Amino acid sequence: MSLVYQHTFNKTSKTGLWHIEESEAFFRTRVPAPEQVTHPHKRLQHLAGRYLLPALFEDFPLNEILIADTRKPYLPDEQYHFSISHCGHYAAAIVSSTHRVGIDIEIPTHKVLRIAHKFLNQRETELINQTGNTEELLQMTTLFWSCKEALFKWNSAAGVDFSDHLRIHWVEGSLTEGILHCSIQQPVYTELVTHYCFRNGLMMSWVLS
Ligand SMILES: CC(C)(COP(=O)(O)OP(=O)(O)OC[C@H]1O[C@@H](n2cnc3c(N)ncnc32)[C@H](O)[C@@H]1OP(=O)(O)O)[C@@H](O)C(=O)NCCC(=O)NCCS
Repeated sequence: MSLVYQHTFNKTSKTGLWHIEESEAFFRTRVPAPEQVTHPHKRLQHLAGRYLLPALFEDFPLNEILIADTRKPYLPDEQYHFSISHCGHYAAAIVSSTHRVGIDIEIPTHKVLRIAHKFLNQRETELINQTGNTEELLQMTTLFWSCKEALFKWNSAAGVDFSDHLRIHWVEGSLTEGILHCSIQQPVYTELVTHYCFRNGLMMSWVLS
């Protein structure tokens, strides 16, 4: 069993992180084949993400998942809200029967520094530039990217501009754990808190609201 991290928020909401070491056959004992995914590693990531859902809530109805026009997977009767992310050899999921959710995991790489101007606004750039050395800059930029991906998944609306519509106002915590105070500008203005932690070499961010 490769569930390397699990957290129970309350009776209705949980999150988990899976280290993918198994073969496709292992996941296929529980998860339907992803016909539309052909790349072997992407298939494994997809399968592991799905496998996590009933690992968190045993009665999760995997066979009932539908895919919206936005590509967001969902359950038609909303028995559970859920969100999935995968990166490298890890998959993460968050599931809640009561709250909307969004999750993202990212391995810090220098690529994020090259594209930072596309997803950060001026205030966020200033916030990040207050950090000390290059490693901290990389960690913070990855955190902001991961946070915005989690917000995007929670929101799941069309036409979202990452720098303008998903805003991070301030950080409360360290480089390895804490919360980000955020807002989403559209389709409905919403103030949200994103939680984050750095574990297993991954930045993990989630929204539950
Ligand atoms: C959809 C998106 C959030 C996926 O993120 P990613 O980092 O590529 O991949 P992740 O592994 O974190 O997440 C993939 C999972 O997100 C989920 N997902 C896909 N589209 C989604 C959506 N619109 N809303 C919520 N969840 C979504 C799926 O569960 C998917 O995994 P699965 O297909 O195996 O089930 C991202 O690709 C995206 O489209 N972002 C917006 C694009 C954009 O405007 N970027 C500009 C930044 S400058």
